[in-house]
Amino acid sequence: MLNFEFYNPAKIIFGKRTEESVGERSANFGKNILLHYGGGSIKKNGIYDKVIKSLKEQNLNIFELGDVKPNPRLSLVRKGIQMCKNNNIDFILAVGGGSVIDSAKAIAIGAKYDGDVWDFFVKGTIAKEAIPLGVVLTIPAAGSESSTSTVITNDEDNNYKRGMQSLEYIPKFAMLNPEFCYTLPKYQIACGCCDILAHLVERYFTEVENVELSDRLIEGAVKTIINNGTIAYNDNTNYDAWAEIMWTGTIAHNNLLNMGRIGDWASHQIAHELSGIYDLTHGAALSIVIPAWMKYVYKHNIDKFYQFATRVFHIIDEDKEKAVLKMIDKLEIWYKQLELPTRLADANIEPVRFEEMAERAFLHKEVIGNFKKLYKEDLVKIYNLCV
Ligand code: NZQ
Ligand code: ZN
Repeated sequence: MLNFEFYNPAKIIFGKRTEESVGERSANFGKNILLHYGGGSIKKNGIYDKVIKSLKEQNLNIFELGDVKPNPRLSLVRKGIQMCKNNNIDFILAVGGGSVIDSAKAIAIGAKYDGDVWDFFVKGTIAKEAIPLGVVLTIPAAGSESSTSTVITNDEDNNYKRGMQSLEYIPKFAMLNPEFCYTLPKYQIACGCCDILAHLVERYFTEVENVELSDRLIEGAVKTIINNGTIAYNDNTNYDAWAEIMWTGTIAHNNLLNMGRIGDWASHQIAHELSGIYDLTHGAALSIVIPAWMKYVYKHNIDKFYQFATRVFHIIDEDKEKAVLKMIDKLEIWYKQLELPTRLADANIEPVRFEEMAERAFLHKEVIGNFKKLYKEDLVKIYNLCV
């Protein structure tokens, strides 16, 4: 196990009716609130009314910025930054999923920075300050409610989708009411569960040895998401299943599970090019990329893959390679049960821009992946395995 520091200050407020205290909790940070949300689901399912009621009870000044799109766009981030500067915003409340939260995080650091907010994503500029933010989570998936990441798509420059890391914008609190998931469309349920599983897989495959505790915690979390993802997909008002998924989604990405180890993260970067170019939902890009990545890299450390196959999928075979390939098949079967794409054609993507995607992925990087280091020619081969 490597040396590490674990710090995650996000307060998680979990369960039914927790959102009723959102006004009181937000008021601790000041009077002027930027309420940030997506394309309107919260207005249809009543979450917006609940949040507004609670904020109004505290006599807060509410400034609204909706219309965050999945794969959130830089242009809206810029609009939010301007709103914060013009209105002396004290606190940003993100009501939604990863896209809304990521947009809020970028606004939070951009509003405290004199330069261009995109610098953080491509120049490695360190965020030194952020407007505090809080979250009412409406979809378990990205884990952004307590993660150190934000991922933004630059709609002003070739739709490059890029992430950055900072402790500054970790939400002060995140409210997780599993009942809010009841209105999720099946496709979003599937994509969300796939993303959670991907966050676990990215952390699991590491070259660092002697990490038994986190290995076993990840294995348990993977089993939990596979089991409860299937239940929620078929029974969308099953509170118990949603409770498991929501909590797993947060734990999967709050960095606890990668302490003392180094995660891989190649699959995310490979998938981001599919989302950037084709505006493909993050989870749907991952269900195509993860099996392809696994097929490409498993020989690099067959023992780690065999451990995953035996402990998570209970596959035992003297021939480790056979077991691993069986595990990948089983994973693909789970994706298919959730009606997720596992090949580019399933997402109506022509196999034509692999060189370009590989080049884009390396635009600000020299190497991708930690479990196995990948270069441009490797990415082209992995995209070919997605066909
Ligand atoms: O926009 P609205 O109308 O609200 O609809 C949303 C959106 O269309 C809908 N939705 C959300 N909650 C709902 C609901 N519909 C009905 N009922 C509800 N309760 O779901 C759609 C997807 O929302 P989105 O926020 O895009 O989903 P998700 O949480 O999967 O976020 C995806 C984004 O997060 C990034 C992804 O790349 C992607 O851009 N990620 C962020 C990470 C992070 N910050 O740590 C890590 C992840 O790996 C990921 O990259
Ligand atoms: Zn993800």
